[in-house]
Amino acid sequence: MDIIISENIRGKSIDALQEKYEVGFFQDLWKIPNELSRLVCDAKALIVRNQTKVDSNLLVNARSLRVIGRAGAGYDNIDIEAANEKGIVVCYAPNDNTISTAELSISLILSLLRKIPQADNSTKSGKWERSKFMGNELYSKTVGLLGFGKIGRAVAFRLRSFGVNLFAYDKFVQADDKLAKELGVNITTLEDTLSNSDIISIHLPLNKETYRMINYEKLMLMKKGAYLVNAARGEIIDEQDLIRVLKANILKGVALDVRGKEPPVISEIEKFENVILTPHIGALTEEAQEKVVSTVVKDVDLVLNNKPALNYVNFPFPQH
Ligand code: MLT
Repeated sequence: MDIIISENIRGKSIDALQEKYEVGFFQDLWKIPNELSRLVCDAKALIVRNQTKVDSNLLVNARSLRVIGRAGAGYDNIDIEAANEKGIVVCYAPNDNTISTAELSISLILSLLRKIPQADNSTKSGKWERSKFMGNELYSKTVGLLGFGKIGRAVAFRLRSFGVNLFAYDKFVQADDKLAKELGVNITTLEDTLSNSDIISIHLPLNKETYRMINYEKLMLMKKGAYLVNAARGEIIDEQDLIRVLKANILKGVALDVRGKEPPVISEIEKFENVILTPHIGALTEEAQEKVVSTVVKDVDLVLNNKPALNYVNFPFPQH
């Protein structure tokens, strides 16, 4: 097979790809590393989403692999160094999920403030518990964004219409950032953002520095009664520390679209009434998926035709 697809990645662009190449579509292949390794061994391209672990063990035997297409924005499931060593192009879709993920983050903020999932559950069970679902307005609250890249900016832009105050921390963004100034976002330190915000929303990539960055010490800097939203990567929060803080009633509500392990092992976190959980659906809209898949398929096709990839992480052409 020329191209292996190891997760549930569909769409018109995949259909078009199947007309040109021999494509092996195995939506559960990511769960069977040995079989994945066997199939990738002779393939020219591999297309994944976020569940396939593309590590050095997998790549070491990939004799013919020229390109890995990551149907999404984050590529933390791909060992880029191992791909570099083998000269394999890694391409991705850095822009196509931005709006969907920003909209989900805002939906989670509003769901927390108004307890919408909890009210829905209660009403569907035949109850009419109006006073139980007293909420909070978003208006005039301070929202702290951890990460002021593409998604953080899209969230800030949309939140402005709610009349909020905005703080943001991003190691790569300076206080005089043009868009931050235009949107009235106060770019400050991580500590300042945590301690001044009523709502914290995470928009950081996962890397060595951000792994479990939001630990007990950082969570304790948050205001008592603040809300926390994470639609970025689960490993950025230390979940055990979060449970400890939830038990101490420090936070008023938490919404997690992403988890340290996905799918997660059921833990104590599911038991908290003020925690909203969704299964990593930030990018899962019909609109985003169509764009993401088309972007990645285009690059895979380009590389297989000896042309440069447009959205590459490492290099546009295979190196060996
Ligand atoms: C992304 O990185 O693009 C999103 O988290 C969605 C995904 O991983 O598929």
